[in-house]
Amino acid sequence: QPALVSMRDLDVRTVEALIHRAEEFKHGAQLELAEPVFAANMFFENSTRTHTSFEIAERRLGLSVVDFNPQASSVSKGETLYDTCLTLAAVGVRLLVIRHSQDAYYQELLNQPALPVALINAGDGSGEHPSQSLLDMMTISETFGGFSGLKVAIVGDLNHSRVARSNMEVLKKLGAQVYFSGPEAWYDKRFDCFGQYLPMDELVDQVDVMMMLRVQHERHSDDASFDQADYHQQYGLTLERAKRMKSDAIIMHPGPINRGVELASDLVECPQSKFVEQMRNGVFVRMAMIESVLRGNQLGGLA
Ligand code: CP
Repeated sequence: QPALVSMRDLDVRTVEALIHRAEEFKHGAQLELAEPVFAANMFFENSTRTHTSFEIAERRLGLSVVDFNPQASSVSKGETLYDTCLTLAAVGVRLLVIRHSQDAYYQELLNQPALPVALINAGDGSGEHPSQSLLDMMTISETFGGFSGLKVAIVGDLNHSRVARSNMEVLKKLGAQVYFSGPEAWYDKRFDCFGQYLPMDELVDQVDVMMMLRVQHERHSDDASFDQADYHQQYGLTLERAKRMKSDAIIMHPGPINRGVELASDLVECPQSKFVEQMRNGVFVRMAMIESVLRGNQLGGLA
């Protein structure tokens, strides 16, 4: 069963090929479909950019997009994820793009002979976010032309971030030097094998990429005591810290942004910020991912 669910099993050559194909799509390449292909985007967690850019990617590739809203579906009557996918496959859907709050929800859907569909993970709980990771890699590659020796800081709500998990994995593989910062309570020693934890003020003038993460308020049980201004001063990319960045360093953020918390509002669209370009690139990377799984490729998540 063709799938792209995790960055864990993508080798360097595959990541580079997907970025290269995304660049071709950005410059106008098209896909010729031999027959109509139906796709369903199943978002059990909210989304703006991932959901809309997958839909635009599908339409640009000539796929027909089937409307799927979990609240209006038989999921609300208790139908399981597996049975919902079985139903969509039975009626002719060939590509399922799924976002779900459960980590590794996709394990029960992989290698199922009764599910002859291509599967793309659009984010699983605090697990992985491969399409965000690939669009981030495309944006870095466009800016610097490669990854070897590049210093990349991933800063903020690391423990809850599926973006951080996917990116630390792939950045190390691609030859970048990874650093972490943010509240130490939100750092896991298991990240040590991918990079080094440093206080924000020791990092800010050293790195080529400052990747800021959203504080995921919805995943914090003690959120009532959270002080936004205090977080910004201690761990955020403030205007003062941004002035200390290398002149050719870039600012990234997967979105949505808590303006004034992890990132000063005036930095969101400043010349060093790639925030808008990341979202633009998301369409082309997702076109490359969709083409790849429709061609039958198993890209990550092998049991
Ligand atoms: N970066 C990201 O996943 O954004 P959405 O939740 O809006 O899709």
